[in-house]
Amino acid sequence: MNAGFGRALRAQFLLQGDGAFLNHGSFGACPIPVLQEQERIRTWMETQPDEFFTKEVVPRHEVTAVRSAAAAVAQFVGVPGDSIALLENATTGTQSVLQSIDFRPGDEIMITNHQYNAVRLAVEQRCKETGATPNVVEIPLRTNPADVRKRVRNAASRRVKLAIVDHITSPTALLFPLGEIIDDLHALGILVHVDGAHAVGQIPLNVAELNPDWYTSNVHKWLYGPKGTAFFYASPRVAPITKPVLTSHFIAMGFPRSFDYVGTRDNSGWLAIPAAIAFFNQLGPDEFRRYNSALIERGSELLATLGAEPIAPIEMAAAMRAFILPQRRAAEESDAQNLKDMLWDDERIQVNANSMMGVLLLRVCAQAYVDDSDLERLRSALERRGWPGR
Ligand SMILES: Cc1ncc(COP(=O)(O)O)c(C=O)c1O
Repeated sequence: MNAGFGRALRAQFLLQGDGAFLNHGSFGACPIPVLQEQERIRTWMETQPDEFFTKEVVPRHEVTAVRSAAAAVAQFVGVPGDSIALLENATTGTQSVLQSIDFRPGDEIMITNHQYNAVRLAVEQRCKETGATPNVVEIPLRTNPADVRKRVRNAASRRVKLAIVDHITSPTALLFPLGEIIDDLHALGILVHVDGAHAVGQIPLNVAELNPDWYTSNVHKWLYGPKGTAFFYASPRVAPITKPVLTSHFIAMGFPRSFDYVGTRDNSGWLAIPAAIAFFNQLGPDEFRRYNSALIERGSELLATLGAEPIAPIEMAAAMRAFILPQRRAAEESDAQNLKDMLWDDERIQVNANSMMGVLLLRVCAQAYVDDSDLERLRSALERRGWPGR
């Protein structure tokens, strides 16, 4: 284990000192040096607001601080700078895709039953507006990459105009075989938008190699960006039809510059993205991922002693893994919230849990600031609450 990770690294975060934080996936945690850079940018913004906005944000100039930040992300994920727009969050990226396509009655929008809830709701809403139909691919809890690929392929047809595919699912934390899925869907002429909310930073990511039509990921989760930072890629094929959710001054400039200024907002998070990338790179991406994998393996061993069963083989887990916590009865909606509340209120352990398909799912996130003692704390807290045999 890297001596600089774990407890030693906690000093670089504002995370409450008595907590074990095993839920980085939900909202991320921004390192102090990145927050300091954001504060420096905020001060600059407030010192001369006109200069800041008209020169550094508004896309009238070829070179703006927003474009430089977008170029830094683009380089990080292996695509040209002018194929990336910056957004506040992945939700907005998916919404842009849904609004950019002219759906008609008879068209289908494909998602899976593991889709993030807000994405499912946005798809349902867009279907109501246009007469399109959701096509929900059912993927069971106990699955594997070949099974996921087969189920998506079997549900696909030329009626599907857009498929929204997760790179890493949310409650179930599954790393999907994305490259193969994109190839299968493209072979049928289906446009593919990837919801990679959890991907950038957590896994090595080369968007050009994956070849999606659109790809969005949060920078504020696994790449240590300040809250409200995400990127949105559009391929040359779809860039001409890709519109921001809000229409503003620069709509006629087309993708990506039409996204750079859609009304006044706090751009300090976006402009701090290069500092977030620098922080991440300085940890060492390979070491970071090796460290997280080791934590996930250790967590899996500890939770196995309580009868917790991982829902998929380890090859589908990156820095997060979901486990079925055995119960004598089917899980109810409230079980997950009660478990989360109990773990934080009584034990100061933050972890994600969901009641899904009749079982109680516990999602554990590794991170550079987590160490084995956090995982051991989780195991003993669950044991005190009656696992195994609850
Ligand atoms: C798979 C997935 N998509 C989208 C989102 C939405 O992210 P945001 O709230 O930053 O838009 C999340 C958040 O956890 C997610 O897990």
